[in-house]
Amino acid sequence: MSEDVQGQAAEASESSESSEATIAVHWREEGYYPPPPKFIGQANASDPAILDRFAEANFPECFREYADLLEWDEYWHTTLDTSNPPFWKWFVGGKLNASYNCVDRHLARDRNKAALIWVPEPEDAADAVITYQELYRRVNEFAAVLQDLGLQAGDRVTLHMPMVPELPVTMLACARLGVVHSQVFAGFSGGACGGRIADSGSKFLITMDAYYRSGDLLDHKVKADEAVEAARKEGQEVEKVLVWRRFPGQYSAKTPMVEGRDVFVDELLADHRGAVVEPVSMPAEAPLFLMYTSGTTGRPKGCQHSTGGYLSYVAGTSKFYQDIRPDDTYWCMADIGWITGHSYIVYGPLALGTTSVLYEGTPNYPDAGRPWRIAERLGVNIFHTSPTAIRMLRKVGPDEPAKYDFHFKAMTTVGEPIEPEVYRWYYKFVGKGEAIITDTWWQTETGGFLGTGLPGLYAMKPGSCGPAALGIYLAILDENGDPIPKGSGKAGNIVARNPWPGIFQTIWGQPERFVSTYFAKYNKDKDSTDWHDWPYFAGDGAVQSEDGYFRILGRVDDVINVAGHRLGTKELESSALSVEEVAEAAAVPVVDDVRGRAVEMYIALKPGYSADSGVETKVKTAIETDIGKIARPKNIWIVPDMPKTRSGKIMRRVIASVSNFTDVGDITTLANPEVVDKIRDQVQSAKRAKGEEPRELSETEAHEIKTYGEQE
Ligand code: WTA
Repeated sequence: MSEDVQGQAAEASESSESSEATIAVHWREEGYYPPPPKFIGQANASDPAILDRFAEANFPECFREYADLLEWDEYWHTTLDTSNPPFWKWFVGGKLNASYNCVDRHLARDRNKAALIWVPEPEDAADAVITYQELYRRVNEFAAVLQDLGLQAGDRVTLHMPMVPELPVTMLACARLGVVHSQVFAGFSGGACGGRIADSGSKFLITMDAYYRSGDLLDHKVKADEAVEAARKEGQEVEKVLVWRRFPGQYSAKTPMVEGRDVFVDELLADHRGAVVEPVSMPAEAPLFLMYTSGTTGRPKGCQHSTGGYLSYVAGTSKFYQDIRPDDTYWCMADIGWITGHSYIVYGPLALGTTSVLYEGTPNYPDAGRPWRIAERLGVNIFHTSPTAIRMLRKVGPDEPAKYDFHFKAMTTVGEPIEPEVYRWYYKFVGKGEAIITDTWWQTETGGFLGTGLPGLYAMKPGSCGPAALGIYLAILDENGDPIPKGSGKAGNIVARNPWPGIFQTIWGQPERFVSTYFAKYNKDKDSTDWHDWPYFAGDGAVQSEDGYFRILGRVDDVINVAGHRLGTKELESSALSVEEVAEAAAVPVVDDVRGRAVEMYIALKPGYSADSGVETKVKTAIETDIGKIARPKNIWIVPDMPKTRSGKIMRRVIASVSNFTDVGDITTLANPEVVDKIRDQVQSAKRAKGEEPRELSETEAHEIKTYGEQE
């Protein structure tokens, strides 16, 4: 352990009582899998000297190695400026353009190489192969459209687009002008999109008329109308809605276009054929994009990412952790609507000049062999996905991968803890024993990987994300800020002790929230300009084993991770509370075999209302309208009362235990302990009647349920 952590420990206050976050855990350690020699032989990082280069003594200059992967219009003079903590500034004085770095600079050598290969969901439709030259043409033409509409550097534009090549084209066109894009996941509702339009102050919404999902051509334009309406309610007028067409020239949505407001992008493009727009040279510190994520309040957080620091960080981590080389065919099966897609479908891989595959649809459409057919046909050799997708593909088609002739050298997993058993299937059946697996722990806020091992240098261990990433100095702290030593078998809060180039710059429009959510917990001197005084609090519980590997236990705040997507408990609850009959609402996680977690909602009604009034449907509809279908609760329980403390706080861990058939723990501090038995009888008998039987939870799962909602 380094001296500064010990220093911090010495200063820590002794007042706060021990919390369940530091509860002792005695968990079985998994065995190691060494990387295959063939992989090591070709790996981008196979010489341990890289670990020394990124050792703490070389911080922050070590990150020059990442920044040097880019082309700078002006080289920076200060690597890290800490003068206004914790608003760190990286590569100060430097200037560059992200679109230039992801497109133009590859033309000289690779103009005819595929930058993007887009696979539409209908299997009989042809792939679209977009070379770097073609990407250059499309990005320039669309940048000309945006410029013509008056957009300038610093303006924000909201995108609500599905998985089509027009999405990276739109992002890169914005980046070319220094316009800040804010892409909202297409599966989110129009209402959720509207809230983000208003929060970011966007005057333009860019969307698409329709896209394929599980065999249906969905009308997506309808959501744009809802979004504009929702934004208006929050005081933000949308001047123009730009509508890409899934089939150019042919409108696939039923919703009419609004005269004067809505325009087809293919028609606008017709006036800009062959246009070339000079990339605007942006300061390294200029924002590149916003990515909204859920937190502990109802208002989503617009995580603002920088141009120079972010792009350097995703380029560096793509190179060393995903082992991307220019001649690879790389496929990340995530959606660009999430941070994973921004960093590891678009910006990282394209900055490195590789070929990035984009798939429009669901992994199991039309059957569980689809991803493997795509991999075989395109010769994909690096594959990146989430534990949810792996669980699902394993469940519906455990033997499918063996039927296809594809060979991965590297695979990545992201977004949730992966169960060792699922990991082993991924390794054996998908990796065919030839591929390394990099488990990557990180967040929307962190821009890129924070906890993960260099695949050529570290053995893999199922269920652990591995050690800290290069140049990141992770620690586990207890509630007082004292470090919990590795191998102690105690869990605590994982922090990054230092800043890194990929960290978000602030929460858009809420700088105080940025400081209070991520730094206040462990900062002891708010005037200090020494980064050592500002550990980044990630909001995840973790345990570090003797070998230094971290195992992530999940969120310690009010966030439920459904299929790798963060849903804010408060957002779900406030949506339920908008239903007239509802007096109280509490959302809790329930362990789910495929999606990791699902949401269950407990509702108490206002006096005089009965459960027969269709409340359940109303709550479901409210959540789908406010957030989207992904947030739909698995079950909604209308209960006589909520278990509460004497101060009136709903004990979420108690209802979470009921939902998961686990022991409710100590309920002596409740104001109304008698309600627990009633709820348990009601909920568990209804679950049994539906065939939802109790199942044994893993240690990680049990830990989360037992402590759920305790850290508010
Ligand atoms: C969880 C996704 C275990 C964690 C990139 C984190 C993980 C949240 C892992 C961020 C992993 C992410 N193992 N848990 N490898 N990766 N998480 O912002 O709780 O959508 O805080 O970013 O997902 O989710 P987000």
